[in-house]
Amino acid sequence: MAQNQTKTPGTETKQSTGLAARRAAIEILVTVLNRRQFLGDAINQTKAFKYMPANDRAFARLLVSTVLRRLPEIDQAFQQFLDRPLPKNPKKLFQLLRTGTAQLLFLEMPPHAVVNTSVALANEFRSNKFKGLVNAVLRKVAASKSEVENPAKLNTPDWLWQSWVDQYGEDSATAIGLQHLANPPIDISAKEDPELWAQSLGAELLPTGTIRLTAGGHPSEWAGFEGGHWWIQDAAAAIPVKLLGHIAGKTVIDLCAAPGGKTAQLVNAGATVTAVDISRSRLSRLESNLARLQMSAKTIVADLRQWRPNDPADIVLLDAPCSATGTCRRHPDILRLRNESDVAKLTAIQSTLLDAAAEMVAPGGLLLYVTCSLQPQEGPDQISSFLNRHLNYQRSQFDVSDCKTLESALSADGSLRTLPCHWPNRGGMDGFFAVVLTRFL
Ligand SMILES: C[S@@+](CC[C@H](N)C(=O)[O-])C[C@H]1O[C@@H](n2cnc3c(N)ncnc32)[C@H](O)[C@@H]1O
Repeated sequence: MAQNQTKTPGTETKQSTGLAARRAAIEILVTVLNRRQFLGDAINQTKAFKYMPANDRAFARLLVSTVLRRLPEIDQAFQQFLDRPLPKNPKKLFQLLRTGTAQLLFLEMPPHAVVNTSVALANEFRSNKFKGLVNAVLRKVAASKSEVENPAKLNTPDWLWQSWVDQYGEDSATAIGLQHLANPPIDISAKEDPELWAQSLGAELLPTGTIRLTAGGHPSEWAGFEGGHWWIQDAAAAIPVKLLGHIAGKTVIDLCAAPGGKTAQLVNAGATVTAVDISRSRLSRLESNLARLQMSAKTIVADLRQWRPNDPADIVLLDAPCSATGTCRRHPDILRLRNESDVAKLTAIQSTLLDAAAEMVAPGGLLLYVTCSLQPQEGPDQISSFLNRHLNYQRSQFDVSDCKTLESALSADGSLRTLPCHWPNRGGMDGFFAVVLTRFL
C-alpha cells in the first residue's frame, strides 16, 4: 500500500482566536440568512474566507455551522437580554450577536475574548452606536446557560418537525434533530483494503465498510489522498450502489452523477460507466475526482429531460436532485433555507427525471433510484406513483449482505431508508432513500 503523505488526522491546531475568522463567519451568515444563498455558495463568494489560513477557515466554518444548527436556540438566548427589539439593519449586528452567543454557549470560548472581539467587530461594521449593547448583551449571555427542554424540536423548523413526526414518530424525530446539533464525522470510501486504510488513518471501520474519522483537519493532507486511495463519501451515501450486488462488466448510466461519489463506487466495482450531469462545473469536479483516483468513466454534460443514450444500459442509477433534508448534519443551511414548496417543486422534477431514466434501462435491467431526502414525497411516495405509471417495472430484491448490521434501514417492500439517527453513538449517517427496480419488458 503506497502512502505518499504522512499527516495523521486531528494533529492540526484546533482554533484561531483572530478577528478574520469571525468577520468571515458573519459575512457568510449574512449571505445565507439574509440573502438566502446556500452555504457552499456563500463560502465561495466570501473572498476573505478563501485567503485565510486553513485553521481560520476551519474556525469560521465551525462558527457558521453552530449558528445554523442552533439558530432558534441562539436567538432565544440573547434576545432575552434585549430591552427592545433590534433594528432590522444593520444586518451584521444580528449575525454578530449570534456568533458571539454561539461561541459563549456552545463552543466554550473564553468570555473576555468573545466580548472583546465582538465589540471590535461592532466598531468595524459602523455599528458604533451598538458597541455598548453588544458588550452588555454578550456579558449577560456569558453569565447564563441555554436551558431548553427539547433542543431537537426547538432547532428544527415546524414543517420539517411535523413531517418527521408523521413519518418516523416523535422519538425518531427527536433523535434526528439531536444529530443535527453536533458536528458530524468525516466518512471515507477506500478503493481497496478499507481495514488497512482505517488503521493507517487512525480511524474506525464501520460494519458497512466505510472508514470514519472524528478528528478535524484537512483530508487533502491525509495519507492516501494524493495517491488516490480513497474518496470522501458519507456512510449512508455509500450503501445504495452496494445494493446492486455484483456489477463487474455491466454497463451503467449514472444520471445526476456529480461530484461523483457513486460514480467512483461503480467504476471501482468494475462497471463501464457513463456519467451524466447538467452542470459543467460539477462534472469538472467529478472528472478531477476520478483522475485523482486513477479511474475512468465517459462523462457527458446534459439535461436528462432531453438527453437519451444511443443504447440502453444494464443498470441506470438516478441520484435525483432533492431537498437534501437527509444531509442537515453537514449542511445545516438546509434547515434554514428549504421550505415545503421546494419539496413540491423537486418532487415534480424527480418524477420527470424518473420517467426519462426508465427509458434508458435495457429489458431485464435495473433502475436504482436514490435521494438524500427524509421527505416521503421524494422517496416511497415517488416510487409508488412511478410504479403506477410504469407497469413494466417492479421492485427488486436487493443485495443486503453489506447492510445486515443496519436491519432497521431495510423495509419489507425492498427499499432502503437510512436516518441521521442510525448508529447514533457512532456519529449517525445521512438520511438516504433507495430502491432497486427491475424492468421486465
Ligand atoms: C444529489 S446530486 C448527485 C450526487 C452524485 N450522484 C454523487 O454521488 O456524488 C444531484 C445532481 O443532479 C444534477 N442535476 C439536476 N438536474 C439535472 C438534470 N435535469 N439533468 C442532469 N443532471 C441534473 C445536479 O447538477 C447535481 O449534480
